[in-house]
Amino acid sequence: MKVLIVGAGGREHAIAWKISQNKKVEKIFIAPGNAGVELLEKAENANLSNNIEEYVKFAKNNKIDLTFVGSEELLVAGIVDEFRKNGLKIFGPDKKAAILEGSKAFSKDFMKKYGIKTAVYEIFDDANKAKEFLNNWSDFPVVVKASGLAAGKGVIIAQKHDEAIKAVEDIMVEEKFGSAGNQVVIEEFLDGVEASILSFTDSKVIVPLLSAKDHKKIGENETGLNTGGMGVISPNPYVTEEVFESFKNDIMNPTLKGIQAEGMDFEGVIFFGLMITKKGVYLLEYNMRLGDPETQAVLPLLENDLLELIEYSFDKKLSELKISWKLLYSCCVVGAAKGYPESYKKGDVITGIENASDDELVFIAGAKFEDGKFKTNGGRVLNAVAFGKTLDEARKKAYKLLSKINFPGMYFRKDIGNVK
Ligand SMILES: Nc1ncnc2c1ncn2[C@@H]1O[C@H](COP(=O)(O)OP(=O)(O)O)[C@@H](O)[C@H]1O
Ligand SMILES: [Mg+2]
Repeated sequence: MKVLIVGAGGREHAIAWKISQNKKVEKIFIAPGNAGVELLEKAENANLSNNIEEYVKFAKNNKIDLTFVGSEELLVAGIVDEFRKNGLKIFGPDKKAAILEGSKAFSKDFMKKYGIKTAVYEIFDDANKAKEFLNNWSDFPVVVKASGLAAGKGVIIAQKHDEAIKAVEDIMVEEKFGSAGNQVVIEEFLDGVEASILSFTDSKVIVPLLSAKDHKKIGENETGLNTGGMGVISPNPYVTEEVFESFKNDIMNPTLKGIQAEGMDFEGVIFFGLMITKKGVYLLEYNMRLGDPETQAVLPLLENDLLELIEYSFDKKLSELKISWKLLYSCCVVGAAKGYPESYKKGDVITGIENASDDELVFIAGAKFEDGKFKTNGGRVLNAVAFGKTLDEARKKAYKLLSKINFPGMYFRKDIGNVK
């Protein structure tokens, strides 16, 4: 069996690592590619450009049996529809379902329509109307969101009225996020702790994976600029049984109803971005693919073969699959280039990756392999992942693993998983 994984980050390395454990798999291609293939026996990169036609052609020419899409852009652009048209098997939402991630305006209306618990909001496609609305709003902070895909940068939490006005201007008038800012969502600020629950669906059931807790800010104690994620722990200690029950009743089950009622029919991932507050559990957003770096912490805890989940989904029999988890905590710490998320250097040699022991994992994110060496090539360079019977043990092991790895100026947060 030949598998194509679409994407380039640590997430895609983790997906390839997990899929490569299946004996039926003879070859894995990652496109546009991830240097982690150097650490995997059956994997190699395919340097494709960001063009759906090229992916279709590659899958046909190389007789790919299954394509798994890691990142959102091509899903929203309709890669699944094109593969289906060409008789190619692909795991992910088609355009009709990917819009749950591709348009926050659409997804908020979907949440309202199906009674899914979410922050109170309004949608605007006119900057003046949005500003007028803000002139009558007195509850700060308030959250202003570009509706379309903005690589995790399109959400502004405005502390005051003038910041909110500026956010609307940046998004809608200055078009800082291009057409992603044609609409804005303005919503109530929810005070709480966040949780990510990734899930698989065959559109008949939704099967949640273990919960995770991301750490989005560059600085310790959630300070400084937003990043793609500086570390993750799983399971998320804030997701108690009670929280999970509310998630299922108020969010997951009505989401499934909505998917069915809208005639969305796909096999893929739904990632629920949650806010746990004193008033209950709210849905912030859907992502229609696995998270990065959540995947790097969650997948290693999954006992099942990943292809098993995918195949049961294609057969619309996901409800029959028993999912089991290692009774461990995992901790993933991101080693980033100095200066990230602003400007940073590339091309520094990374040492020590080979020192990881059998119960430790290193996933490559922003790095390339050149002249027999790994070299930095992005902001988030690599992920150190380790496990423990307690969260504290998992944390200690992840930091111990990271201490064996080095490159000039390697930056990491020292408080990943330090949950009080
Ligand atoms: N209503 C809200 N109240 C408080 N914080 C929010 C709210 N909506 C979003 N956020 C914060 O902004 C981040 C990004 O928002 P999200 O809707 O997940 O968009 P995206 O991930 O596409 O940028 C969230 O992870 C959360 O920290
Ligand atoms: Mg998010």
